[in-house]
Amino acid sequence: MTKKIIIAIDGHSSCGKSTMAKQLAKEIGYVYVDTGAMYRAVTLYAMRNGMYPDEGIQEAELKAAVDEGKIQIGFKFNPETGRPDTYLNGEKVEDEIRQMAVSNRVSPIAALPFVRALLTQQQQAMGKEKGIVMDGRDIGTAVFPQAEMKVFVTASAKVRAQRRYDELMGKATTQEEKDALDFDEILKNVEERDYLDSHREVAPLRQAEDAIVLDNSNLTREEQSAWLLEKYKEIVK
Ligand code: DC
Repeated sequence: MTKKIIIAIDGHSSCGKSTMAKQLAKEIGYVYVDTGAMYRAVTLYAMRNGMYPDEGIQEAELKAAVDEGKIQIGFKFNPETGRPDTYLNGEKVEDEIRQMAVSNRVSPIAALPFVRALLTQQQQAMGKEKGIVMDGRDIGTAVFPQAEMKVFVTASAKVRAQRRYDELMGKATTQEEKDALDFDEILKNVEERDYLDSHREVAPLRQAEDAIVLDNSNLTREEQSAWLLEKYKEIVK
């Protein structure tokens, strides 16, 4: 039997990391964990509980909620979509956490040391048995620095904004929702998050020294998946 390993996939926002990570996990029978969804779920919790008004995050209140164990995040496999759905305190929040309202607010939440400490600990527990593909920003550097396979994915900001635009357009069900989508706003969000994610003090987005780099600006999904599977096979050989 092939040995089980930890696969860390890090990179910029909207670069297709999760699609390729999910596909790989399916192909090799590993568990897939989207850590961005966990930061998004904490953001949604703060927004819903009046801890994240326009003026900024109510840090003390959010920290108290974290310390009291009031924010429980989990995943449940959805056989209909073939992917795990994100749950916040028992409620499925998969669609809500992908909305622009959350995307626009998540980076400052992800910069808070107590939020990172909580989620890092949970992610490490999920990888205890190995056999896991985890995607995020700091998986190969902070969560699993010992991961046997590390990939750092990137693509130009424009290409990434276009992918996110297409994804949101595909999900929009009414003309009103479609009209509300603005490519320039999405591009701005992608660039702002790149900056914030790379410049925060705790576990900033950076390429691990031993990561394999993949610029997928000009690759199709199939090409990326084939590339990733090939790398995995080389590593476990
Ligand atoms: O991958 P995503 O766009 O869903 O991630 C949402 C935000 O969470 C992103 O702005 C960066 C942050 N994040 C992080 O800081 N560390 C991770 N391991 C995953 C995501």
